Amino acid sequence: MSILIAPSILSADFSILGEEVKNIERAGADWIHIDVMDGNFVPNLTFGAPVIRAIRKVTTLPFDVHLMIEKPELSIDQYIEAGADRITIHAESTVHLHRTVHYVKEKGIPVGVALNPATPVASLEPIIHDLDLVLIMTVNPGFGGQQFIPYSVDKLQQVQQLKKSKQLHQLKIQVDGGINAETAPLVKEAGADVLVAGNAIFGAEDLEYSINVLR
Ligand code: DX5
Ligand code: ZN
Repeated sequence: MSILIAPSILSADFSILGEEVKNIERAGADWIHIDVMDGNFVPNLTFGAPVIRAIRKVTTLPFDVHLMIEKPELSIDQYIEAGADRITIHAESTVHLHRTVHYVKEKGIPVGVALNPATPVASLEPIIHDLDLVLIMTVNPGFGGQQFIPYSVDKLQQVQQLKKSKQLHQLKIQVDGGINAETAPLVKEAGADVLVAGNAIFGAEDLEYSINVLR
């Protein structure tokens, strides 16, 4: 599998969001990473389905929707209707993770589960074969521009081992938080297939160059 780059629009200029999305598509992004935060599961509030629906009109790139919200099972339908092509929920955000994962699968789109830095990889073992993607958070979710947590590399290796031992060839391993030119080689070496990056891409002068550097 070649490395996919998913720019996080959390670091985009919201006053010209449509333009930012078009620019990032032109620059060679593979997915658009969309951080939905509810001010409850994480200490920050971003946007919801109406904004996703609005930017759906300006690009054909897959929308990778990262739900950092309590009880995602209550609103998954609205994100799919708004244009999500894949949905990632946090293991810590829903009591019935197995049920919520299967709910998304029944809607016919790929499903991912995200783990906060303090959540062990072993917690995924009973359901990992049901997943299309595992997201290892490499910062505490909530904000762009934070420092990469080094222990994340161990967790990535653990996911990679599980993937191998269970022969989950289609499973994608994603990382999110503090990914830049210095940390990208570390996570790729440890098995990451999809790199999310906010500041490293939108903070750069040349979007295309910054995407190529990460890749
Ligand atoms: C963090 C979000 C990330 C964030 C990454 O809670 O899930 O997607 O935007 O931003 P950077 O790459 O700047 O750490
Ligand atoms: Zn994210």
